[in-house]
Amino acid sequence: DSPALVDTYRRTARDLRVSLTDRCNLRCQYCMPAEGLEWAPGSLQLSDEEVIRLVGVAVGQLGVREVRFTGGEPLLRKGLEKIVAATASLRTDEGKPPSMSLTTNGLGLAHRALGLAKAGLARVNVSLDSIDRATYATITRRDRLPEVLSGIRAAAEAGMAPIKLNAVLIRGLNHDQAIELLSYALDNGYELRFIEQMPLGPHDAWNREQMVSADEILSILQKRYALVRTSPGDRGSAPAETWDVLDGNTERILGTVGIISAVTQNFCGACDRTRLTADGQVRTCLFATSEHDLRTPMRSGATDDELAHIWRTAHWGKLAGHGIDDPSFLQPERLMSAIGG
Ligand code: GTP
Ligand code: 5AD
Ligand code: SF4
Repeated sequence: DSPALVDTYRRTARDLRVSLTDRCNLRCQYCMPAEGLEWAPGSLQLSDEEVIRLVGVAVGQLGVREVRFTGGEPLLRKGLEKIVAATASLRTDEGKPPSMSLTTNGLGLAHRALGLAKAGLARVNVSLDSIDRATYATITRRDRLPEVLSGIRAAAEAGMAPIKLNAVLIRGLNHDQAIELLSYALDNGYELRFIEQMPLGPHDAWNREQMVSADEILSILQKRYALVRTSPGDRGSAPAETWDVLDGNTERILGTVGIISAVTQNFCGACDRTRLTADGQVRTCLFATSEHDLRTPMRSGATDDELAHIWRTAHWGKLAGHGIDDPSFLQPERLMSAIGG
């Protein structure tokens, strides 16, 4: 029995993504239907103590070194600060606290950034698809851009760094705003990443031909900026490929931009991720079509060793990759909003 989470393709998962709720206060078109979804009943959602216990098993017994909290929207979780503080007190197999981050839509961050930083949260990734208020409201179906922008500022003021921004480009909605978004990010010292849309939202929201691809994003950006790949060939297990952004005239480095080409140049071969849903299921891949239940055994008295064993066994069966281009591809039943990206 290897102590770490390894799979048959010889990958080791060091990065745990924990979804803390399936609820969200936005309704982004690529993620959730306008009417929302049927939320999981409270009784199936892990309590703060249960989340803390499972994160402890992952870090203490399974070799996990990085923990990211996601949702739905993780700021909707009242116990977030408590969960962050408890995670900060864990020690990895290298004897250090796990690196910790949060992926959020930014709503409510303005009031909580400082407390989260004090609890031990090092950094945040905030979803921001447009800085035009009307476009933002169309994509997210909620008119809340100003609150998001002040949330991002608060995170920076709380000392979180780097601040990463995630943008999904949708043809006909915001795909002509890439330069505007990048210039906002550069001006403020944030690291913007453009993400290829994946088929994980409402079934009518994704279409391979309409998707704005990494190549297309790159050529849009190159019309305005000179881009220089940072450490080419050294992406490791990180989803984003990054470029230094240079001013075309002065060659001064203005900042960094990333592109997450999850579909056209997938990074599955180097995947180091494992996922836990808010209702206590292990997902070995974003696109896994089956899950492994930890909640039921935990509530029936399983020991930490037994939970670790279930997680390891689950991980051994991790798929080679997402297979989006396979003719037999099937979107998993659980939508993005309940996986957390
Ligand atoms: P850092 O770069 O470490 O800050 O994190 P990240 O980019 O992994 O996290 P984030 O939550 O900001 O995710 C950005 C995008 O990458 C989202 O669209 C995720 O769905 C996508 N992503 C993250 N991990 C995976 C993965 O394992 N597989 C795929 N296909 N996409 C992923
Ligand atoms: N494809 C790609 N990225 C998505 N996200 C949400 N839905 C999708 C999708 N269908 C992004 C969000 C968020 C991150 C966790 O995942 O923009 O920043
Ligand atoms: Fe890993 Fe699955 Fe994402 Fe590929 S699609 S990088 S295997 S989680």
